[in-house]
Amino acid sequence: MRLDGQTAIVTGAARGLGRAFAHHLAGLGANVVVTDLDFAQASAFGEELSAETVAEEIEQLGGSAQRIETDLTKPASARALVEACLDRFGRLDILVNNAGGNLVPVERSSPSCVIEEDARAAMDLNFMTALQCSQAAIPAMKARGKGVIVNMSSASARFISAGGSSALYGAAKAALTHLTRSMALELGPHGIRVNAMAPGLIWTSRVKAQSEARGIGRAADVGRVPLGRYGTPEDCALVLEFLVTDLSRYVTGQCISVCGGTQLTAA
Ligand SMILES: NC(=O)c1ccc[n+]([C@@H]2O[C@H](COP(=O)([O-])OP(=O)(O)OC[C@H]3O[C@@H](n4cnc5c(N)ncnc54)[C@H](O)[C@@H]3O)[C@@H](O)[C@H]2O)c1
Repeated sequence: MRLDGQTAIVTGAARGLGRAFAHHLAGLGANVVVTDLDFAQASAFGEELSAETVAEEIEQLGGSAQRIETDLTKPASARALVEACLDRFGRLDILVNNAGGNLVPVERSSPSCVIEEDARAAMDLNFMTALQCSQAAIPAMKARGKGVIVNMSSASARFISAGGSSALYGAAKAALTHLTRSMALELGPHGIRVNAMAPGLIWTSRVKAQSEARGIGRAADVGRVPLGRYGTPEDCALVLEFLVTDLSRYVTGQCISVCGGTQLTAA
């Protein structure tokens, strides 16, 4: 299934999963608007780029990409992002709400000790950015009577980490998963499908660099993954391909686990 002539926005696309998504969608023929807080941080965890940013990488491969640097936790950013996309490409078909992350230090991330500032930041980054980008994108999709939104949730939305850590990250991703279902119900009659993806541990440059400090990704833990390895960004990109093309044309309001079967095993 090709996406020639279609336009996609991928948030948090400087590195990691977002960068892989942008490349995959461009490879399927879509014009891609990549947006991030800070493209200069793309290599912060050792990820190697073949050009200055993912946008130039895509252009060098013969694709069409636009880069927009903005803080999506600011309410006006989402509207400006969609306007820039429509100005450049004239249409918006696909929105991938990927910006997010578990940024609170583990030792102060349990419910009884998480501070208000961290709690609000987790909700702003993992929930509000997706809500605001979706609200900005919906009018253009409604006008065409067609559109696809994919929200990046997490296995953390379903499972409680040891000692209740990463509480607000999990809560924000659970809220995003629920929002996915509400949006699917509201927007289905307008031809807009909304689904989510819930990755387990995906071996991105950031996860690799932070694994020791966060106590995740130890070699011994791989044994708890039924498919015998941690995920790669490409594993998630293949699921994204399913969700944004007509391969999933009768699928909406769902959250697909991309965890190698980890959710089937006891924690
Ligand atoms: N890697 C995993 O194991 C994993 C597992 C489950 C879910 N996820 C989710 O997948 C998504 C991508 O994860 P990743 O591992 O590639 O993370 P990452 O930290 O490598 O990439 C996230 C990107 O979002 C950008 N970003 C952060 N704040 C922003 C803001 N305010 N506005 C715009 N952009 C902002 C960052 O600059 C970064 O480039 C996140 O939503 C994450 O929660 C990842």
